[in-house]
Amino acid sequence: MMDRIIIEEAHRETPTVVSLYFTWNLDVKPGQFVMVWIPGLGEVPMSLSMTGHKKCITVKAYGESTRKLCELKKGDFLYLRGPYGKPFSNVKGKKLLMGGGSGMASLRSMIDDQSTGLVAAKTAEEILFEKEFKEKQFITATEDGSKGIKGIITDAMQKIDLSSFDMIYVCGPERMLKAVFDRLKDMNVRAEFSLERSMKCGIGLCDSCSINGFQVCLDGPTFSLDELKYMDEFGRTKLLASGRRVMI
Ligand code: FES
Repeated sequence: MMDRIIIEEAHRETPTVVSLYFTWNLDVKPGQFVMVWIPGLGEVPMSLSMTGHKKCITVKAYGESTRKLCELKKGDFLYLRGPYGKPFSNVKGKKLLMGGGSGMASLRSMIDDQSTGLVAAKTAEEILFEKEFKEKQFITATEDGSKGIKGIITDAMQKIDLSSFDMIYVCGPERMLKAVFDRLKDMNVRAEFSLERSMKCGIGLCDSCSINGFQVCLDGPTFSLDELKYMDEFGRTKLLASGRRVMI
């Protein structure tokens, strides 16, 4: 069932990213996603960047549907169904939240005193949610060197003791996920990754989100490091909305 919800606040985070705040009386856990309907254009899956009583989606404009979402204002309506999918495991203790680009959105609701953020972006102006971390618990890498370490997320990983964390959560473009996975796969660490796939139904019917026999909408979108070790399509191929399989 789809809900029509009024937007209480629209906040521009970066030149291409907007957060839309609203109240929705449903229990949503970090890592789960909702299907957002854009009238005339269809639905897009989005994770929530706040999961308490007040909720939020953080949208990066990269196509027609997401551009339309980024134009919404306070008082406009959002059309949502969900929540769907397997949430991140809720682990007590030290957490490392690794986000690439707008991937930090789905990790934001897990920020607390025990969490360290490791955020990578192309430029400084694309870095999300820095102020929500404690000052000494935030590390950045930018490709152009405009903030933090010059390089990509795996360059920044070398600066920290990864084994000191009780759980590592990772979200971002799949190439970044794969690069992080390759660094972690032989280490004695716990990690979970949030995968993105083309999604049409969100509820296990259409198979547009399949990867190695798993459906990302039902079996994911969060997968553990150990699960990914057996998924050879991860980081290599994906299905487009048209059904064509392409290299990542
Ligand atoms: S989105 Fe349809 S089966 Fe996953």
